[in-house]
Amino acid sequence: MIIDGKAAAEEVLEQVRVRVQKLKSTPCLAAVIVGDDKPSHIYVKNKIKMCRSTGIKSVECELPGSASQKEIIDSVKKLNEDKEITAILVQLPLPNHVNKYSVIESIAPSKDVDAFTSANFSNTVFGISDFIPCTPAGIIYLIKKMGVRIEGSHCVIVGRSEIVGKPLAFALLNLNATVTICHSKTHDLKKHCTSADILICAVGKPGIIKGDMIKTGAVVIDVGISRSEGRIRGDVCFEEAANIASYITPVPGGVGPMTVAFLMKNTVDIFEKYHILNIE
Ligand code: GUN
Repeated sequence: MIIDGKAAAEEVLEQVRVRVQKLKSTPCLAAVIVGDDKPSHIYVKNKIKMCRSTGIKSVECELPGSASQKEIIDSVKKLNEDKEITAILVQLPLPNHVNKYSVIESIAPSKDVDAFTSANFSNTVFGISDFIPCTPAGIIYLIKKMGVRIEGSHCVIVGRSEIVGKPLAFALLNLNATVTICHSKTHDLKKHCTSADILICAVGKPGIIKGDMIKTGAVVIDVGISRSEGRIRGDVCFEEAANIASYITPVPGGVGPMTVAFLMKNTVDIFEKYHILNIE
């Protein structure tokens, strides 16, 4: 079965709309984008569009690719201090001359909508709250929605990024899955992948996961998005995998819409947590 990420995202967005309507004032999401990476600009436009659709205010803070690390951090600090701003995201990747960890750490943890700061990341590791990064949150929502049991299942994650692979591994571990993380230096990727009950691919290499790397009946979650041969492709050979998997996410229309929906949810979570007096 093909998992409809757009429909699942719409469910989450509808819940966000209802919550926003109950607030006495309006949350505001600030998006910081540095340089002119085209896909990043498309993602941010989409995030801003979704703010409008859910009744959340937004501001876009654009800096040139030549901006220094200090200039970027100063912009983030201004947003930290701005009472009108509920939540801040710094779109990744950042230009190579910038230390992304320093920039992320400059975001006030109480406004860190991506849950990327070390304070919030440790919550994900310890399983203290369900305020976790947007893409892992969206993936877990989809798996649960399909009625698939996470506890006790073997989840294999291909890709160890800070945005998806690492936080997702801890989130699944906290749900009592057995988790394997594979990456570019893993020996015999096929052996690991074929042992997965739930296979999550987040590498960004089109078609790296072939049909013969998937166990019959496995759940396949494809997080990869690449432009190749004139179209958008995931990490998984969809045609091969669709015959073998029990559930599979398409690209586009799978995990992508979930990331944006959970960004909206995280914005409202922050607003309710730190502006609690505004709730009717
Ligand atoms: N770049 C790719 N995905 C993400 C994300 O979820 N958040 C941010 N801030 N940047 C990204």
